[in-house]
Amino acid sequence: MSGVAHDGNNKPATAARIYDFHLGGTHNFAADRAAAQAITQMFPFVPLLARTNRAFLGRAVRHLASQGITQFLDVGSGIPTEGNVHEIAQEIVPEARVVYVDIDPVAVSESLDLLAGNDNATAIRADLRDPQSILDHPQVRKIIDFDQPVGLLMVAVLHFVSEDDLASRAVRELLTPLPPGSYLAISHGSAEGMQRDLANLDNAQDVYKRDTATPFVLRTKAQVASYFDGLDLVEPGVVWLPEWRPAPGDPQDFADRPTESGGICAVGKVR
Ligand SMILES: C[S@@+](CC[C@H](N)C(=O)[O-])C[C@H]1O[C@@H](n2cnc3c(N)ncnc32)[C@H](O)[C@@H]1O
Repeated sequence: MSGVAHDGNNKPATAARIYDFHLGGTHNFAADRAAAQAITQMFPFVPLLARTNRAFLGRAVRHLASQGITQFLDVGSGIPTEGNVHEIAQEIVPEARVVYVDIDPVAVSESLDLLAGNDNATAIRADLRDPQSILDHPQVRKIIDFDQPVGLLMVAVLHFVSEDDLASRAVRELLTPLPPGSYLAISHGSAEGMQRDLANLDNAQDVYKRDTATPFVLRTKAQVASYFDGLDLVEPGVVWLPEWRPAPGDPQDFADRPTESGGICAVGKVR
């Protein structure tokens, strides 16, 4: 893709398209590529982090589907790429239903293109900082049955909500209508315990601040754990990305140094 995106703000790049570029996708514009390359120059491991995160998403969805979850609300779903939630879930539960939610218009339009003719999955544009707008959305109401357990996915998205209270509130409000037996899966950028040189972290954050509408913040393991207050954590608890139920075929980039992966994750079950 070339040219400029028109998504209602004056920022030239978006988190979704930067992530798409890191994953080797083609749904990104010159400004996204420039931002992604600026980040990679400072932190060459970021494309590996993106792959490692995506692998966690796949493992979490497989686990939830294997536990009987048949409907997923994927908030901050991103641009479709290898291993989309409906594809993974439907391998295990063919009738699985998915609503993808993203703030980025390209992520939503590409998802809708991919899902054309699929009655069990759709995509909506919404901002998780306004969780009620997601819960009240007619497409969400149509596809998700809130009387049945739901898999709520917030994978690599909460670090784009820089206000701590807003991020926590969004998780709480999205969990509120979910019945017992539902699950929450989260991954989140973190530098806690990292040995690498983080001198450039402020500069990397500045790229997102300057070029996108969604600046990022890193949070600690304790902060990520707090999103699961009141839920039963699924083993192995709150861990680094490569440590959550590793499976054959996972990227091995951080397998022997998980704290360097830059991402913390967990899955919890609603009581
Ligand atoms: C790094 S991508 C993660 C995509 C996918 N969840 C994954 O892990 O592979 C983060 C996504 O969150 C979306 N996002 C950021 N802030 C958001 C917000 N306030 N509401 C909804 N989506 C948001 C971005 O547009 C982007 O598509």
